[in-house]
Amino acid sequence: MSRIIDGKAISAQVKENVGREVAELKEKGVAVGLAVVIVGDDPASRVYVNSKKKTCGELGISSEEYALPAETTEEELLALVQKLNEKPEVNGILVQLPLPKQIDEKKVIAAISPQKDVDAFHAENVGKIMIGSYQMLPCTPAGCMDLIHSTGIDLTGKHCVVVGRSNIVGKPMAMLLLHENATVTICHSRTRDLKSVCLQADVLVAAVGKEKLITADMVKPGAVVIDVGMNRDANGKLCGDVDFAAVSQVASAITPVPGGVGPMTIATLMRNTVTAAKLQNGLL
Ligand code: GUN
Repeated sequence: MSRIIDGKAISAQVKENVGREVAELKEKGVAVGLAVVIVGDDPASRVYVNSKKKTCGELGISSEEYALPAETTEEELLALVQKLNEKPEVNGILVQLPLPKQIDEKKVIAAISPQKDVDAFHAENVGKIMIGSYQMLPCTPAGCMDLIHSTGIDLTGKHCVVVGRSNIVGKPMAMLLLHENATVTICHSRTRDLKSVCLQADVLVAAVGKEKLITADMVKPGAVVIDVGMNRDANGKLCGDVDFAAVSQVASAITPVPGGVGPMTIATLMRNTVTAAKLQNGLL
């Protein structure tokens, strides 16, 4: 039976540190603010945005929500991003993805000022991650790294397998693991014999969005398993990409869903917002 990695507890520690930093900045006359933009009425996006705003409130970060209708044009959204880029009390800009199909996500991401890009999605920040000199961490991968570190594993020379190649999770996750001297394999929908690759993993990160994709026969005994999936099962219950009940019998440590990666993503976003405020005030 594996150790359950408690994302709620670990994220609470991160948030405590962020809250302390926010208070210290306030004493120096620096207020920290995040703008959250949501377009349309995707129910999952609404849940995430509410959770981000609530956490801001708990940590003393001011948040402004911009809820735009589903039929918003690309020009309108770009104009709002421009306005937020120029607004000094906004340190971080988060445009919740996905966006409606009439809007080109790439153009919107490119329009966000890199210094306010608290998701680290802008090409400038992605490039910095690639060369290993970054200040803004991609939220979900950074959260996963904190969870991996909590197990005490030394990643040097370990084989880490990332299943999923998205710009938000898979690709930056692979980079962060590489920076810690792991040997990294990225798998995706065209990978041949996924099972045999996964079986080699000392650390297995699943970020695909497919319920029970990772079964117990795909996991090496003693592996650390990080489940980034956020799916709904047939009963509408939140579940990850990993068959938790079976894999937890094989892995040495595993994240649950919910209560694993999810809370860490938000905690990292808060940390990035403080970093952005420091950058903009010449404190970094
Ligand atoms: N949609 C799913 N995950 C994310 C995220 O980390 N940031 C943003 N902006 N949108 C998302």
